[in-house]
Amino acid sequence: MSEQPITERATMPKGYNPVLERRTVENANKNLLKYLKLGLTVLDVGCGSGAITRSIAEKTGPTGRVLGIDPSENLIRQADQNVGNLPGIFFQQADVYSFDTTEQFDLVTCARTLQWLAQPEAALVNMKRFVKPGGYLAILDFNHEKLSWTPEPPAAMRTFYDVFLQWRQDAGFDNAIADHLEAMMHHIGFESVTVEPQFEVSRRDDPDFSVTSRLWAEVAELRGPQLVQAGYITEDQRLQAIADYDSWIATIGESMTVYMLAIEAQQPV
Ligand SMILES: C[S@@+](CC[C@H](N)C(=O)[O-])C[C@H]1O[C@@H](n2cnc3c(N)ncnc32)[C@H](O)[C@@H]1O
Repeated sequence: MSEQPITERATMPKGYNPVLERRTVENANKNLLKYLKLGLTVLDVGCGSGAITRSIAEKTGPTGRVLGIDPSENLIRQADQNVGNLPGIFFQQADVYSFDTTEQFDLVTCARTLQWLAQPEAALVNMKRFVKPGGYLAILDFNHEKLSWTPEPPAAMRTFYDVFLQWRQDAGFDNAIADHLEAMMHHIGFESVTVEPQFEVSRRDDPDFSVTSRLWAEVAELRGPQLVQAGYITEDQRLQAIADYDSWIATIGESMTVYMLAIEAQQPV
């Protein structure tokens, strides 16, 4: 198989994605809880397979309207299939840069998506257009350079992780996007911007430590083949990273802290 074009690196691999599907507002986007109420209208940009979008729609109820957009045909199909009978929720295949509508929303949310964009500020400018006067734009994203493990992960996983960040950077993605968003929000015209830490900490004592700390083994499983195809690592190195990291989780792994920030602003009235 040949390497995909560099512009395609943000494309999610096909198939069921357990990382996306176990997310809810409560466990993965809790900065939104303060806004969500019955009847709210919400645009979820980069909604993936719609797990968080469904969780939003459960809170906005049948009188609300929640629209999830994502450029991946495959993920939008999964989102449509997974939605069941939940009222007030809709999905549309669309790209954040070119999405257009005359509709404006009480809340525009974009979680873990700007990290995959080479022009995040252009995306913010377009999203701002869809926020009602007095409504909110709420971004949640990573600084991958500030991820920490205790104790240090196995060398094979450290190598995989460092290569993953290099592969992302070479495609023009900002590994430290979370720490650059406050300035970008000011730059596009928001006056008052709030920044709230949303670190995701997995500790050995947590009942789901073996699932949540496994995030990077899952990235090596799901995204790793793209790095192999692009010649950044060998298939043996990828498999070694997964195996060694799984044994770190089973034996000496104590904690993993994923650095995330929620950056939010209100549209002037
Ligand atoms: C890590 S997933 C996040 C999904 C979900 N928001 C969450 O937090 O679980 C990133 C999503 O961004 C989407 N994406 C990539 N490029 C995009 C673009 N240009 N416009 C909108 N979404 C995009 C991907 O298809 C993917 O579903």
